[in-house]
Amino acid sequence: MKTTNLLLGLAVGLAPTVASADDLNLVCSADIVICELIVERFEKTHDIDVNMVRLSSGEAYAKLRAEARNPQTDLWWAGSGDPHLQAANDKLTQPYESPRLSELHDWAVKQAENADYRTVGVYSGALGWGYNTEILAKKGIEAPQCWADLTDPALKGEIQIADPNSSGTAYTALATLVQLMGEDAAFEYLAQLGANVSQYTKSGSAPVKAAARGETGIGIVFMHDAVAQADQGFPIKVIAPCEGTGYEVGSMSIVDGAYNLDAAKTFYDWALSTEAQNLMPEANSFQLPSNRAAVASPKAPSLDDIKLIDYDFAHYGQTDVRQHLLDRWSKEIGAAF
Ligand code: G6P
Repeated sequence: MKTTNLLLGLAVGLAPTVASADDLNLVCSADIVICELIVERFEKTHDIDVNMVRLSSGEAYAKLRAEARNPQTDLWWAGSGDPHLQAANDKLTQPYESPRLSELHDWAVKQAENADYRTVGVYSGALGWGYNTEILAKKGIEAPQCWADLTDPALKGEIQIADPNSSGTAYTALATLVQLMGEDAAFEYLAQLGANVSQYTKSGSAPVKAAARGETGIGIVFMHDAVAQADQGFPIKVIAPCEGTGYEVGSMSIVDGAYNLDAAKTFYDWALSTEAQNLMPEANSFQLPSNRAAVASPKAPSLDDIKLIDYDFAHYGQTDVRQHLLDRWSKEIGAAF
């Protein structure tokens, strides 16, 4: 819009017009449907033009890292919390204490405290999987209820999970297994699981979308992503693993050196409001909102009903810890694929 005004002004020999709206360069790491809806509603109520790009959480972190000397991004909304914490660790993002912090659940504020306020929690959700009831029934395979069941040779070629280098969901899975089993046992488990995996996808929710379409039997994902497919009528059942599981604190961060800082703060405060967070179910996004007054969809899997591990976000969001686990995954699991 700004470019058009400028060209028009030059063409008719007038001084360039001053654009009325500010810009905001946003990286969005949630599902594309909620990314688009949140941008549309924000633009409707603010005089700010948003340029949005959807990237998985690990890719978003890599983009911020690559742009550190000359940031092209102002704000990073959503995506799992560990890469946001790593960005905070690396000082790729800047501290900001929103006036809305007092409206948030403790887990969302704790995420901010863990990062000296360089990030904050916007939603939460537990890790599990969705399976295609028709595929498993046709093959006579019993529905896997536990992490241990997923290595059954009967499931060969029937599992998809994302690559933890690009996907925050898959990094949550990796860190969860390490916390449940210990690091060496977790990598042994991942090697066995790998024998059943047909594809390591780029985006975290892709595996259960593939399961919904009948392309694979099982997708290891955040449970709310599996709920989203079941809710659209696909034959997907959602499982919380019997041994226990990890969860994400989906986060939001302002980039250090953000060019459009005021616009970034405006979006940040708005994204923590009930108005913004209540939009999630409209886009089939069933995470638990971080604002205490926002309404969680009855379809959102409740953390109280799931055996959760005490996920150590501060530890697994550290740069050296995340890098070490990703390097080991690439060498032992990714390269062997
Ligand atoms: C989906 C989930 C989000 C999660 C995100 C992470 O969109 O609904 O809750 O934060 O995946 O994406 P990634 O592609 O990085 O795994």
